[in-house]
Amino acid sequence: MPEITNNPNLDSIRIAGTGSYVPEKILTNDDLAKRVDTSDEWIVSRTGIRERRIASDAEATSDLATNAARKAMEQAGVDAEELDLIIVATISPDTFFPATACYVQRNLGAKNAVCFDVSAACSGFLYAMSIARQFISTRSAHKALIIGAEKLSSMVNWEDRNTCVLFGDGAGAAVITRAEGGDSGVMSTYMGSDGNQTDILVVPGGGSACPITPSNAEQRLNTISMQGREVYRYAVTAMRGACDRVMADAKLKSEDISMVIPHQANLRIIDAIRERLDVPQEKMFVNLEKYGNTSAAAIAIALDEANRTGAIKRGDKIVLVAFGAGLTWAAAAIHW
Ligand code: UT7
Repeated sequence: MPEITNNPNLDSIRIAGTGSYVPEKILTNDDLAKRVDTSDEWIVSRTGIRERRIASDAEATSDLATNAARKAMEQAGVDAEELDLIIVATISPDTFFPATACYVQRNLGAKNAVCFDVSAACSGFLYAMSIARQFISTRSAHKALIIGAEKLSSMVNWEDRNTCVLFGDGAGAAVITRAEGGDSGVMSTYMGSDGNQTDILVVPGGGSACPITPSNAEQRLNTISMQGREVYRYAVTAMRGACDRVMADAKLKSEDISMVIPHQANLRIIDAIRERLDVPQEKMFVNLEKYGNTSAAAIAIALDEANRTGAIKRGDKIVLVAFGAGLTWAAAAIHW
């Protein structure tokens, strides 16, 4: 399977600050049960999700991203003009072009940054981290802002109970700098892809392969379509393998890990990864009950919550692992 691991000879990078933002509006399982044939019991027992956030009509993905970015920059003590790289991971960009990262640049006044988006679905934030790592550790860039941001509510078919109960909106961000001595930093990163499985999780319409017309809009081809069971099966295998790889590269054993921050799609998937890693439940960071699956934003929001609530502390060894459409998967091992 195509994959990219880290080059151990590069300079080390660290996460200097994290931030996150979720919209105010809460949509509960009971709210959804009024729209489609579902129940709080089904959603909680099959996924662990209890509620999700929904952005207002006035909020675009770049607005969520900007709010998260400001908090990460404040924590890192980095001004907008110091940033030389902004990467936004998203599958729900403001527009096909320009990149959502350029809107964020404008919002922040980050006039010295080069900006682009990454499309790797739920793995996007970790793809962005790997990319930023390459630029910073080779000293091509010095202060990078990576963001996972999604307004998935804009591409959900609200009449499809198979998918509409799963997704939510939000954004998380991190400022990445070079590690100046000491042990802390990103120890290893890993990315994988399998383009043979493009069809099992896809928005089929709206792109060049199927431009949107009144008739296919009526068929909801511009919304998320997923073969849940298939995706589930791949997700467990790929995330387990990704954890093994970053832990081996970073020379970490299960007992060394203080916290695993997995993609927040389904509690049962998280449990299956936990079993493989052989870590206790309290070492798996879970917040999907509040936000559902926010794709590229999920790990970024979870990382910020873990950081700000003290669930991860300086010196901890943590593993981040994601899986998403593409298919794509990715992981990182970090000495916090
Ligand atoms: O972020 C990217 C990665 N995405 C994922 O990792 C998602 C992976 N997949 C999953 O998490 C799970 O497959 C789902 C949560 C999407 C579905 O759970 P499942 O246990 O695989 O259920 P299923 O799709 O096999 O459906 C079981 C039954 C079906 O009814 P029948 O055919 O057995 O009569 C569905 O029609 O549950 C039905 N169902 C629902 N019932 C009530 C599907 N959605 C719902 C619903 N409420 N919302």
